[in-house]
Amino acid sequence: MFPKISFIDPRYTRSLDNRITRDTAIDALSHLLEGIYSVKRNKIIYPLIYKGVSLIYSSLIKTIDEPQNLVLRGNLMQASLYGGIVIAQTGTTLQHSIGYPLTVEFGTSHGLANGIVMKEIMELYCKDKIIANEIKNLFNYLKIKQDDFYNWLNKFNMKMENRLSDAFIKAKSQEILKSRNMQATPGSVSLDDIESILKRI
Ligand SMILES: [Fe+2]
Repeated sequence: MFPKISFIDPRYTRSLDNRITRDTAIDALSHLLEGIYSVKRNKIIYPLIYKGVSLIYSSLIKTIDEPQNLVLRGNLMQASLYGGIVIAQTGTTLQHSIGYPLTVEFGTSHGLANGIVMKEIMELYCKDKIIANEIKNLFNYLKIKQDDFYNWLNKFNMKMENRLSDAFIKAKSQEILKSRNMQATPGSVSLDDIESILKRI
């Protein structure tokens, strides 16, 4: 589904509170990263991915500190637009589908659910040498190390409020493994991998 017209104007986001600003920007970041993770990755859209990730990495904390700053909000909006263009080409992966049951069962916002598993998913995908290399190239572009990115993520304090029950993890891991998003997921992700992530968040 594609819009006929989009209004990409940061003034519309000025009244968003910090929680929604964080969660929606982290969702956009997931879309951008999944453009690299996806088996449908396409280097033609890498400039959008690199620029989008860079804009979120450099602007999100500042936007939370200065919510009325329209230059910063414009950066996040641009990154979000790029993320949308990217997933229209590549689809989303386990990074997204593992968060859906958290939203459905516990009301965890979509972006927050993505943020809670973001480091775990990156670590899992980087077991695949191709992805590890792609992510290394991204962080070289950003002039940061992977650990710097994880430290940055930690600043947003994205966690589940309670540990997930064993029954929930067992039932939902099966569903996640059968989800449509697994078609674009790189490497060979197992039921154990999914259960293990849900146990750690
Ligand atoms: Fe999303």
